[in-house]
Amino acid sequence: MIDPDLPRRAFLKAAVATGGAGALSACLGRAPRAGNPVPTGPDDLSTLPDRQHAWNERVRTDEHGNTELPRHQVLLYLTLDGQGPPGEDQRETVAGALRTLDRAYERNNEGLLHSIAYSPAYFERYDTRLPADIDLPGPRALSSFEEPTLDTQDALLHLASDRADVVLEAEEAVTGERSEANGVAVEATLTDAMTVDSRRTGFVGAGMPADRQDVAGIPDSNPVPEASPLFMGFKAGFRGNQATEEYVTLDSGPFAGGTTKHVSNIRQRLRDWYDEQTFEQRVMEMFSPGHAEADLVDGIGANLGADSGIEEFLDDLTDHASEFGRVGHAQKAARANRDDAGNVRLLRRHFESTDDDIASLHFPSLQRGITAFEEVRRAMNGQDLTDNPAIRQRVNNGILEYIFTEHRGNFLVPPRRHRALPTPRPTA
Ligand code: HEM
Repeated sequence: MIDPDLPRRAFLKAAVATGGAGALSACLGRAPRAGNPVPTGPDDLSTLPDRQHAWNERVRTDEHGNTELPRHQVLLYLTLDGQGPPGEDQRETVAGALRTLDRAYERNNEGLLHSIAYSPAYFERYDTRLPADIDLPGPRALSSFEEPTLDTQDALLHLASDRADVVLEAEEAVTGERSEANGVAVEATLTDAMTVDSRRTGFVGAGMPADRQDVAGIPDSNPVPEASPLFMGFKAGFRGNQATEEYVTLDSGPFAGGTTKHVSNIRQRLRDWYDEQTFEQRVMEMFSPGHAEADLVDGIGANLGADSGIEEFLDDLTDHASEFGRVGHAQKAARANRDDAGNVRLLRRHFESTDDDIASLHFPSLQRGITAFEEVRRAMNGQDLTDNPAIRQRVNNGILEYIFTEHRGNFLVPPRRHRALPTPRPTA
């Protein structure tokens, strides 16, 4: 039960984490819709973008043009009812449920952003295979030191909004707990075709991690800066270090307009990060030793502007490892995160979580193919750098000492036209 005496911000986050009808009515009681209406979606749904992942134009940006992700997010991992491929009735149900969300909320951070994605296990229900150029292997461990639970549910529905009450209401609309959403009648209930196997929640943005740091994984010293959007104390997702939506979009075949999505959940244990390391050492391990030496990062790093500047520090990675006894997280990952023409390959959209009162990170990453994600993640492992005795597999090796991968799942995000239980080879 949510304590109604919680301060308002903490209250709304607690409401999303808890979920359920009680949470929503409590939430609306605190922030009545009448006083703060939510914009509804268009009557003509063909005006919506074909890309389900077209979020960047529909969220806030900071003064440098970096996108700021919606503050409240929910991931619903779904299992299709029954064996084998879905029936037409199930497809219509899913289509109707998603249309309800489209109509009920303007597609942006003040309304709702949402997308549904399907796993390799879902496509295996069919006799037909996905087109050969769809790069969607099953999830697997990506380092020698992790044993994640592999998420092989059929589908993943991702809901995101700056409004906690919207995320909750949308969830209730798709799970059959309400008959209208933002004044729009619910056309069909997603859970008439699918079952929620796992519900995961999160948040991102200045103030929220600091407010929520009283959880396992964060030391008692209350170290998370108020300004930080993430528990680790830095800003992430600079425009120059992110792939564009265009770049990650599949450009041909039946799923043109779609993309692939890897989602991991990463537990954080930040006691030594904060209590044993200086700010300078944290900068070295998060960005690069060169960033610390040149004093490039002020506070959470907002001063970096629209680019972390990491490309300056890729050639001297080995020399700096010897000189400073540390290598940077961004520095290692960036080595594999450019194509031959210098384009960034991954579009990261990670957000924090306090599910089960544990500090963790939900890490969705969009890319044209899952292989790109796997290559970048392996570069981040930095196994090749452990020739240097100061750099061990998980010590002085970026942030690996503090993060633990608990889950991994891979999904195809179809274009909107094929978002309702697609076959492996949908026709127009
Ligand atoms: C708790 C976990 C993590 C935190 C707090 C974190 C934070 C950061 C920060 C602050 C940066 C530098 C700013 C930026 O470019 O966005 C960064 C860069 C990056 N991180 Fe992470 N990260 C985490 C986990 C991961 C994971 C699991 C991956 C998986 C591959 C990853 C991949 C990257 C990449 C590709 C870059 C950009 C490097 C480039 O410029 O190409 N990060 N991260």
